[in-house]
Amino acid sequence: MKFFVDTADINEIRDLAATGLLDGVTTNPSLVAKSGHSDFIELVREIAGIVPGPVSAEVAATDYETMLAEAQYLAKIAKNIAVKVPLTPAGLKVCRQLSQHGTMVNVTLCFSAAQAILAAKAGATFVSPFVGRLDDIGENDMQLIADICAIYQAYPAFKTEVLVASVRHPMHVVEAALLGANVATIPPSVIRQLFNHPLTDKGLAQFVTDWQKTGQKIPTSGKKAG
Ligand code: E4P
Repeated sequence: MKFFVDTADINEIRDLAATGLLDGVTTNPSLVAKSGHSDFIELVREIAGIVPGPVSAEVAATDYETMLAEAQYLAKIAKNIAVKVPLTPAGLKVCRQLSQHGTMVNVTLCFSAAQAILAAKAGATFVSPFVGRLDDIGENDMQLIADICAIYQAYPAFKTEVLVASVRHPMHVVEAALLGANVATIPPSVIRQLFNHPLTDKGLAQFVTDWQKTGQKIPTSGKKAG
């Protein structure tokens, strides 16, 4: 399963990229506003230079012509840009145009399996079902992921990857992985939560204490162990 980080915060992206666990980045207009960055194009360029994998940059317009023009501009920023378009008739029309010309497209704001079928037919590289927002309205978020994965598997001609979005907690990531989702885009705080288990902390504290009792040191430089 690939991990994208769901943020437009450069410091967070740098920090998490250094772990070697990041495969890409997703941004959206709300995350860009939250970042406080005043130059979206420069922000996207900078992010694309930090992470070699796909960096999702979302169009702002909702009509086909303007959306297509924005999408073509965004796609030229860097080779690893995935243009993000909304799951609307105009958005899917743009998706079709871009994918035919080899541009990666992330179709966002997917809330049903029917929409995911349309995204695949439009040639999307990624479809982003929003699990957290479905949770918020009391709907079965993971059933949607299961349905999309099953449908895509039944049609090998569909090459679209399932990118689980609106992730709120580690169990969303685990459940999505169990269902075989290709990617999860995860907020930085949730990525950090994935590392945590109280027994890991307790076990490590015990190992440190017991090792100190041995009075030994493992060499960190000098001649090779032999
Ligand atoms: C990612 O592509 C989405 O924009 C994001 O995951 C939405 O998350 P939210 O529902 O927490 O805003």
